[in-house]
Amino acid sequence: KTPYVVTSKSYTAVAVNCAAKTGEWIKSRLGQHKSLHIKSSLHDLVTEVDKGAEQMIRKLILTHFPQHVILGEESVEPGSEASKRALEQAQEEEYLWVVDPLDGTTNFVHGFPFYSVSIALAHRGEVIVGIVYDPMRDELFVAEKGKGAYVHGNRMQAAPESKLSESLLASGFPTERDRALPGNLAGINALAPQVRNIRTAGSAALHMAYVAAGRLTGFWELNLNAWDLAAGSLLISESGGRITDTFGKPYHLGVRDVVASNGLIHDAFIGALKDGNAQG
Ligand code: IPD
Ligand code: CA
Ligand code: CA
Ligand code: CA
Repeated sequence: KTPYVVTSKSYTAVAVNCAAKTGEWIKSRLGQHKSLHIKSSLHDLVTEVDKGAEQMIRKLILTHFPQHVILGEESVEPGSEASKRALEQAQEEEYLWVVDPLDGTTNFVHGFPFYSVSIALAHRGEVIVGIVYDPMRDELFVAEKGKGAYVHGNRMQAAPESKLSESLLASGFPTERDRALPGNLAGINALAPQVRNIRTAGSAALHMAYVAAGRLTGFWELNLNAWDLAAGSLLISESGGRITDTFGKPYHLGVRDVVASNGLIHDAFIGALKDGNAQG
């Protein structure tokens, strides 16, 4: 059982409590979802569990911080244009929570036990708290700006590999296949011959948490949304890793084509994507 109790009104405590409670509830619904709908395409699914999880998180956050604004995946119209617009409207807010209530819906629907709850708090557009929770393994990844990144109390450090040839990478197949799949496949073509291996396990937020924990050397994906990346971005930067767009420009909430790594392989990683014409 997850032993978290909110003892103060700190942002991190509330975020941890939200992620833990919501994650436990999602896990209790595994194999039992009742509705399955298609959003923007046949690759883009939603269940009542995604929506219920977002409602739980909203309620908990607003109980503690009624003035704050929440950008949550299931409250935005499907498709990347609508997400870009929603982010543009929200990102100037003083305190903005960026929430993916269930990252890895396809896995959840199929009973593939790899999905997460991702919660970030941004202050005037800069992520200051990032939480990713994996209820299947009861693993809680927490980062606070300037204070490091931890998995269940142990400080995380990005992986030591310094060469692409020693690297284990991850990626994902984007929901809007027409928009991003060619670049994504070009990236796999370019990198597969050069690295130890590539995983696509189906939760961008957990992939990023694994880069922070040193379990993956790097991760890239095209056309992701702010809620997929916000929490993981702080885990990466606070664990000594590096996170940029596919051209090497620093991460901000509007970045959709992302490259995250331990830092050591970053330039070579981007170089390989460039050579493979895979920058999106
Ligand atoms: C998806 C997951 C997946 C990634 C997709 C995302 P969702 O998020 O992060 O790993 O490849 O691009 O849309 O829809 O399950 O929250
Ligand atoms: Ca989704
Ligand atoms: Ca997601
Ligand atoms: Ca989601």
